[in-house]
Amino acid sequence: MRRSVIKDVLSTAKFGDKVLVKGWVKAFRQNRFIQLNDGSTITSLQAVVDFENTDEALIKRITTGAAVGLTGILEESQGKGQKFDLIVELIEILGDADPEEVSKTILQPKKHSLELLREQAHLRFRTNLFGAVFRVRHATSFAIHKYFNDNGYYHIATPIITGSDAEGAGEMFRVSTLDAQNPPLTKDGKIDWSEDFFGKETNLTVSGQLEAELAAMALGKVYTFGPTFRAENSNTARHLAEFWMVEPEVAFNDLTDNMDLAEDFLSYICKYVLENCADDIQFLNDREIEEDKAKPVAERNEMNLIERLNFVINNDFERLTYTQAIELLQNSAPYKKKKFKYPVEWGTDLQSEHERFLVEKHFKKPVIISDYPASFKAFYMRLNEDGKTVAAMDILFPGIGEIIGGSQREERLDVLLEKCKAFHIPADELWWYIDTRRFGTAPHAGFGLGFERMVMFTTGMANIRDVIPFPRTPKKAEF
Ligand code: 4AD
Ligand code: MG
Repeated sequence: MRRSVIKDVLSTAKFGDKVLVKGWVKAFRQNRFIQLNDGSTITSLQAVVDFENTDEALIKRITTGAAVGLTGILEESQGKGQKFDLIVELIEILGDADPEEVSKTILQPKKHSLELLREQAHLRFRTNLFGAVFRVRHATSFAIHKYFNDNGYYHIATPIITGSDAEGAGEMFRVSTLDAQNPPLTKDGKIDWSEDFFGKETNLTVSGQLEAELAAMALGKVYTFGPTFRAENSNTARHLAEFWMVEPEVAFNDLTDNMDLAEDFLSYICKYVLENCADDIQFLNDREIEEDKAKPVAERNEMNLIERLNFVINNDFERLTYTQAIELLQNSAPYKKKKFKYPVEWGTDLQSEHERFLVEKHFKKPVIISDYPASFKAFYMRLNEDGKTVAAMDILFPGIGEIIGGSQREERLDVLLEKCKAFHIPADELWWYIDTRRFGTAPHAGFGLGFERMVMFTTGMANIRDVIPFPRTPKKAEF
């Protein structure tokens, strides 16, 4: 018999159908009722074993965590909240799970902390929670590809190993095959990178943007979706050393087009997951409400997960410039009461306490801040008329902070070269990037969405380590 997946059984099978399902035992009660889950959906199928007529040794092997195949007839369930009972005719043990060993792991069916689940990340896929998280992560990723495909964008693969470190987005991880104990040296005693695999220093990329810009200057609308790496020592709930970034880049777009695109894109993703992951989202929503009950009122979510997703779909984001944000902050109660730790002055970057105030306390909605001072934004951002600010934008989400960073790019060759000089960017190494400003340069704009930060929003998970299967953070690269 061909195996059926439980998701299909639950949605299309009829009473009386004979099916074979395979999965892992979630629970086995009264030597009779098996809850079987195969990962296709959060819902487990209830199977009923004929205890009297089944070999006792076989019954003993139906334990939590074991992999089994069950063949039987679907009948109307006597239990509440489920359509089918699978009346089992044939049991096949595919993989045993010793209860004693299981009890030492998170497979044991009881509540475990997220920290403990992270330590057993190889097993946490089996929990209802992480099953839901990773199905929603998949749908979030699929929605992104679908949005761009349906809107005429081309997916571009940008390099993971890069020979430039010009972005200045953060510390980089070196890629080298030189003998670390005994590297070749130049005459003046420095490491001789010309002997290295690529004949030069190379690193893992921090962003695919610069290469995406090259493609946009021919294909018009492109996007990248790839892993990026940052060796910053940021041990926060929002930072990973290895994360995925989505970077659209569009020829002839200006900053306003860029904001419009980002808003439309983010609400599309929210709509897609709500429509396509209804049961997982419901589970995550209810779990969050339960978790909140244990927290002090001030720390609870003002809106639940489903409300937050709908909020993004139904409301425009607040748009203001950096200059307006500074004025607003300087007139705010926490500023006047000296509650902010960091200074609020034109010319200094906004800190997360300021961003949180704007998004979570003041506007209570996603916010787009634009036109930041040139001094602390990247060299490639387009200089505004005022000569002081650049056409940058950051999108801030409640509970997450910066989810998108982007800009209109500097398309004027002379201004770009000036900026390289001012930022100590070696223009000769970036010859290929600068070339695009020589041959049919055109206004263009793009942004980077931190994919895991988006998955935090679509799942409601509060720690970025819980939305990527195997998180990489300082001092942690297990699995
Ligand atoms: O603001 P960032 O640094 O922008 C860029 O890299 C541009 N090249 C993007 C572009 O214009 N094409 O990073 C973009 C986003 C941030 O807004 C944040 O969501 C996410 O990437 N991000 C991180 N996510 C997880 N862990 C980290 N360490 C992150 N650093 C940035
Ligand atoms: Mg940024």
